[in-house]
Amino acid sequence: MNFVNFLIGVTSFCLLLLLTHSASLSGGDEVRAPAPQCPTDGSCQLPTCHCASTTPPGGLFGPNVPQIVYLTFDDAVTIVNHPFYASALFNRKNPNGASISATFFITHEYSNYSLVHDLYRKGHEIALHSITHTTTTQYWANMNESVWNAEIIQQGEQASHFARFDRNLIRGMRAPFLQTGGNTMYRALSQGGLTWECSRPTYTYRKPGLWPYTNDFRSIQDCQIAPCPDEAFPGFWTVPMLDFIGDDGFPCAMVDECTPVPKTQQDTFSLLLRNFNDLYTTNRAPMGVFTHSAWLIGPVDRPEFAERMAGYLQFLDHLGSLPDVYMVSVSQALEWVKNPTGVADIDTFQPWAPKPEATNNCVFPRNCRYDNSTWERFMSACVPCPLNYPWVYNNLGVN
Ligand SMILES: *[C@@H]1O[C@H](CO)[C@@H](O)[C@H](O)[C@H]1NC(C)=O
Ligand SMILES: *[C@@H]1O[C@H](CO)[C@@H](O)[C@H](O)[C@H]1NC(C)=O
Ligand SMILES: *[C@@H]1O[C@H](CO)[C@@H](O)[C@H](O)[C@H]1NC(C)=O
Ligand SMILES: [Zn+2]
Repeated sequence: MNFVNFLIGVTSFCLLLLLTHSASLSGGDEVRAPAPQCPTDGSCQLPTCHCASTTPPGGLFGPNVPQIVYLTFDDAVTIVNHPFYASALFNRKNPNGASISATFFITHEYSNYSLVHDLYRKGHEIALHSITHTTTTQYWANMNESVWNAEIIQQGEQASHFARFDRNLIRGMRAPFLQTGGNTMYRALSQGGLTWECSRPTYTYRKPGLWPYTNDFRSIQDCQIAPCPDEAFPGFWTVPMLDFIGDDGFPCAMVDECTPVPKTQQDTFSLLLRNFNDLYTTNRAPMGVFTHSAWLIGPVDRPEFAERMAGYLQFLDHLGSLPDVYMVSVSQALEWVKNPTGVADIDTFQPWAPKPEATNNCVFPRNCRYDNSTWERFMSACVPCPLNYPWVYNNLGVN
C-alpha cells in the first residue's frame, strides 16, 4: 500500500477509536470494561489515587501510624437520640487537643434538622443515607442511576438546606441495609459530586485490615453483598467496613449486628476492645464503630440498654486514654490517608487541628407539621417550612 492509503487507514482507525470512545462516554446500558489491576509501577499515587491494600499509606509503619477510629451512627437524628450524642461525644478530645468528630449517616424521614445543625456545628460530619430508607433491599440493588441521584445526591441538597450548612461539607454516604447498587450506584455518586461511600463489608481483609482506597483500579476486596462495583471510578473512595467478630465467632459489619447481643457493660466493652485490638496490634487500619443509637437507647425497664451504653462509653474512655488513637470523621480520616502523617508529627496535621465551633445559624428553628386523614409528619427546620412534606423527587417540598 502507498503512503496515502496508509494514512487513510490510520485516520479511519483513529476515527473508529474515537467513535468507540464517545459511545462509551454517552452512557446508557452498554457493558463497560472492568477496571484494570492496580499498577505497582508508581502510576497510582496519593493524594488522588490509592490501591486497595492492607499496607499503611505513606511508608509509615508500626506505632508511628495513628490508630484512626471512626464512630458512626445511622438513621434519623431525633429528640430521643440527640441528648445521647451530645453527652457521649461533645466533650471528648483527641490527643492533639481537638474535639473528636463522629459521622452521622442521616435519613430524611423523622430527622430533626435543628438537631442536625447542632451536630454539624459541634464539628461532626453529616453524611447521607437516603430520603426514603425503603425497606426492600431489591429496591436498592436494582435501582437506576437517576433514582440513586434522587435518593442520595438530592438528599445532600435537602439536608444542607433544611439544616442550613454548606452543601460542600457533604462528601459521603452509606447505602440503606448496606445494599449498594454496584457500578450504577458508584456512577451516580461520583457524578453527583460525592467523594466516598462506606457500605461494603469485608471479611477477608478484617485483620490486618483493608485501608480506604480509590476506585481508579480494580479492588482486591471481597464482595459480601452483591452487586459490587468493578468498573473504574477515578478518585472516588471506598471506605471498607472491616467486619467485627461477635462472641459467637460470627462476623458482623455493624456492631449492633454482632451476636450474641451483649447485655452487660463488661460484655459490651470487651466486644469493642477485642475488635479494636485486632487492628491496633496489627496494621492499624482505621476501625469503624458502626452502629445505630437504638443499640444503646431503649426502654428503662430493660436494663441491658443502659448496660450497653455504659460499656460503649467505657470503650470511648479507654480510647481517650491512648496517646496515638484519634476519633475523627470519615472525611478527616480520608484527608489523613491522602497525606499520611506519623504520630511524631501529628500536631502539624491541619485537617485534625482544633477548630472553633461554627456560628449557630439555627437560633429560631421552625416546627413544621404535615398531615392528612391517615398520616402525619413533623419536621423541624432552620429555614421556613416548605409547602409540602419533602420527599424523593420533591426534596425541598416546594411542589
Ligand atoms: C429509573 O427508574 C425509575 C423508577 O423505576 C423510572 O421511572 C425511570 O424512568 C428510570 N429512568 C431511566 C433513565 O431509566
Ligand atoms: C396521606 O399522605 C400520604 C403521604 O403523602 C399518602 O401516602 C396517603 O395516600 C395520603 N392519604 C390520603 C387519604 O390522602
Ligand atoms: C427538634 O428539636 C428542637 C430542639 O432544638 C425542639 O425544640 C423541637 O421540638 C424538635 N422537633 C421535633 C419535631 O421533635
Ligand atoms: Zn439505616
